[in-house]
Amino acid sequence: MSKDIYILGIESSCDDTSAAVIHNGELLSNVVASQKVHEEYGGVVPELASRAHQQNIVPVVDTALKRAGIGPEQLSAVAFTRGPGLMGSLLVGVSFAKGFARSLNIPMIEVNHLQGHIMAHFIRKPGEYSDTPEFPFLCLLVSGGNSQIVKVESHKKMEILGQTIDDAAGEAMDKCSKVMGFGYPGGPIIDRLARKGNSKSFTFSKPNIPGYNYSFSGLKTSFLYNLRDWVKDDPDFIEHHKEDLCASLERTIVEILMKKLRQAAKDTGISRIAVAGGVSANTGLREAFQDHARRFRWKVYIPPFSYTTDNAAMIACTGYFKFLDRDFCQIDVPIYSNTRL
Ligand code: KG4
Repeated sequence: MSKDIYILGIESSCDDTSAAVIHNGELLSNVVASQKVHEEYGGVVPELASRAHQQNIVPVVDTALKRAGIGPEQLSAVAFTRGPGLMGSLLVGVSFAKGFARSLNIPMIEVNHLQGHIMAHFIRKPGEYSDTPEFPFLCLLVSGGNSQIVKVESHKKMEILGQTIDDAAGEAMDKCSKVMGFGYPGGPIIDRLARKGNSKSFTFSKPNIPGYNYSFSGLKTSFLYNLRDWVKDDPDFIEHHKEDLCASLERTIVEILMKKLRQAAKDTGISRIAVAGGVSANTGLREAFQDHARRFRWKVYIPPFSYTTDNAAMIACTGYFKFLDRDFCQIDVPIYSNTRL
């Protein structure tokens, strides 16, 4: 095996086209092209997403290689997100990755997107110290499509202890934002407004389901119905109370997430706790993690903002560990859209 291992990572599971290069485990470049086209629709439009990936993929990969200061012939392997995600979006990245690897006659590495989010905790930059979690640890994986508690035993061995039975936490944020007439994605908007509000102003319903599973559909409905009643009495209700509404909604979501996580930590006896996925950018959730670290002596791992939402650095990082295991895939490996680890 050559001394220098260069992995190109490609991510295209939803509405971000991204490419990254990792050299011997250290990140050299991470380029993300976010698709603005979905903003006016209040959510990702799958057909538009795949078209945008088609336009972005070549310039994004080219820029990632240039920023890394290498040519394609120096690559050792191409890692790509195989799923879960939107079929049309995945197809663009996967097809490009397969064709590129084949043309360079180098191995292909398939990566699970959810595993990638967790592996973001192992991204290292040249010359920078990073506090990577020791195994085993628990990871709260919260994004627009998933809310899971995962027990991470090694880079490869991960077990889902619980997950949402309906909507994801990020989806609840996005839908409630839409109901209030705000933009997409709703999470960052709610986060910003919540900082100026009183989180105890309103109460919304919380789920009562067994085990470590989550549910956010009841909260979404309760938010919608309450709002409808309040707006009937005062048409300007949302404008007058937007900060308090956002703060109360955020508090409710964070409380739901942390309650199950506390239970899982207690039952497994694991006190190294990480958070990953787009919603891990949320200020209230990050504060709750710090608070739990103090109260329950947890050692918490919170990723830098740039690795919370979809990015190829986490795919290249996972690909690097798989490369060391010679865990390659064949050209006919199919994509998958459903949730699995
Ligand atoms: O991981 P991600 O980029 O994409 C998926 O794979 O789903 O997560 C996107 C989700 C969206 O629902 C977005 O509203 C949410 O992450 N999000 C946030 C914040 N930033 C992004 N939610 C709450 N607070 C934030 N600051």
